[in-house]
Amino acid sequence: MNPTLPAEFLWGAATSPHQIEGNNIASDWWALENGEHPVVPERSGDGVDSYHRYPEDMALLADAGLNAYRFGVEWARIEPEPGRVSRAALAHYRRMIDTALESGLTPVLTLHHFTGPRWFAELGGWTNPHAVGYFARFVTSVVPILGDVRWVCTINEPNMVATMAGAQRAVPDAEAVRAFTSGALPDPDPEAARILIEAHHIATEIVKSGTDAAVGWSVAQQAFVAAPGCDDQLAEANRLWEDPYLEAARDDDFVGTQAYTSRLVGPDGPIAHAEDPGNTLTGWAYRPDALGLAIRHAWQVTGGTPILVTENGIATGDDTRRIAYTGEALEHLGRAVAEGIDVRGYLHWSALDNYEWGHWRPTFGLIGVDRATFARSPKPSLAWLGSIARANALPTAEHREAQPC
Ligand code: BGC
Repeated sequence: MNPTLPAEFLWGAATSPHQIEGNNIASDWWALENGEHPVVPERSGDGVDSYHRYPEDMALLADAGLNAYRFGVEWARIEPEPGRVSRAALAHYRRMIDTALESGLTPVLTLHHFTGPRWFAELGGWTNPHAVGYFARFVTSVVPILGDVRWVCTINEPNMVATMAGAQRAVPDAEAVRAFTSGALPDPDPEAARILIEAHHIATEIVKSGTDAAVGWSVAQQAFVAAPGCDDQLAEANRLWEDPYLEAARDDDFVGTQAYTSRLVGPDGPIAHAEDPGNTLTGWAYRPDALGLAIRHAWQVTGGTPILVTENGIATGDDTRRIAYTGEALEHLGRAVAEGIDVRGYLHWSALDNYEWGHWRPTFGLIGVDRATFARSPKPSLAWLGSIARANALPTAEHREAQPC
């Protein structure tokens, strides 16, 4: 049975500024990519030039049938030097909001998606005792352009940001970033987590003081599952990695669920994905069921905060596989809705093939991009997701079985 979705259900795609815009030169990541000894294998460079080509990108999404677009504003462009706000950068992001609204796309706006200004990183980033004040000043400068924005995500994946922050404190930057891009992650730093939670709550108040937006943040969910006899270890993994960030969203208007794969938790904690030819281009196990696991976990830990799926997708060069993965993920979302969980939308990661934090090879996009000419090539998955969006109906297993291959 296909659960009925509310008419205003958001069907969209997501991006982040640094991964698509290009030439984000005042940012901390630009410094890491372009230093004398670059610490990531590949640089973002021109990105996919979405800084200039966003009208085309939004038109492709809207024409396909989607009704929402999650994108971010880049702190490093808005405040390239401490306290110096670029009115031109704010005007740029305001034009993006206008373009989205004119195209029929509800903007879901992220204030912080992994990158910050270089000066902020040099001051210690999220481990600086004044980090909350710096972020609050930035958010205050953005609020005047958010008047008619209805969805705001303060910080993307604070649990990953806390992991990076902790790693940077413990080891030299280069090593920390190498760990991040290779997937070998240390535990999130509890002090950075505390600062991020405070920053989220203050940013929420600031945004609410100037807009009617629903405000939340988006949490990286690993859909942990216990190996036999490892329930305590499962609880510990959730306590370290996810639950404090979900608990911090208990009074929020929504919580963003971001799930790609599931991880088993064994006697020594989360187990790395075993090598398998079926793994995706990021080396993760192919687990479309992760979305249902993550939604249920977020619902349970927050005690019923409405859920917006802010990211879900697959890194693959085979678009048929993307459609299969996403169709199955949506079936799991449908089952969660049928159980009574309040899910407000599904935003696929990603709109475009983009810069995957140090690498270009893992392609997550509904739209391919020629990185020499920047020509866009919508993939069949874009039209497929658009047709689901137009019908506002989730696929079901029965439906999938009835489809010819
Ligand atoms: C991040 C994205 C990233 C995606 C795929 C999420 O962790 O928010 O920036 O590209 O997952 O790895």
